Amino acid sequence: MGVISYYKITGFIPLVGYKVLMFDKIPSTQTYAHGLIERGDAVNRMVICAAAQSAGRGRYNRPWVSHHGNLYVSIIYNAPVCRPQIAYSVAVAVAETIKSFGVDTQIKWPNDILIDGKKVCGVLIEFIGDYAVIGIGINIRSNPTVVGYETTKLENYADVLQSELLSRLLKNMDVWLKADFDKVRDRWIKMAIGLNGNVEYRGQMYKFTGINDDGAVILERDDNMYFVYGDEIHFPYLSKD
Ligand code: BTN
Repeated sequence: MGVISYYKITGFIPLVGYKVLMFDKIPSTQTYAHGLIERGDAVNRMVICAAAQSAGRGRYNRPWVSHHGNLYVSIIYNAPVCRPQIAYSVAVAVAETIKSFGVDTQIKWPNDILIDGKKVCGVLIEFIGDYAVIGIGINIRSNPTVVGYETTKLENYADVLQSELLSRLLKNMDVWLKADFDKVRDRWIKMAIGLNGNVEYRGQMYKFTGINDDGAVILERDDNMYFVYGDEIHFPYLSKD
């Protein structure tokens, strides 16, 4: 594997069939993963993990505050096709991982993970070439103050070792990325908040009633059913997303 990096790699762990590159501080594990793919250095199941990031990024290109003490990881998987279903598998994998530490979690569509209604984890999924890059940030020791929604950290609920969290997360990713979508969706729906509630889509209110086989959100209004994808669904009563 010809990984060329000017950042100091602090570890290389072959973990349950993954190749994990550990860094102290880099701009963004997600951006680093992009670079590997662009240079032809990426392989399936490569994991980029950083103790801190100086330019962590979230959805809508928002900054993701990334101090030492939390988990910042990007996982590269072969994904020749962009499948919206992946978002649900990832959400369930993260939620189950946090639950395995005895902490109850909820999922806010598509894959924000909440504890007591407060965001503890964000997921950013990007498709580049033949790969999906799944970026996951989990607040363990600190949580940023964000305008529009509340955040929390795992430390408030359980003793969580970063390395154990990563190891359980990667195992759960295997389970839930391989699982039948029916099973993933059932699990996702059990943990989802806002289901059967009102959501805003392109300036109008709808009832959010489920997920179809293709991973589209099912919205209902005036006895009509709509199937929608993308980031444009908002839960006005939960928080600004
Ligand atoms: C969100 O906006 O909720 C998604 C946040 C994703 C943050 C993670 S941290 C690891 C990876 N590297 C990044 O720069 N972003 C993702």
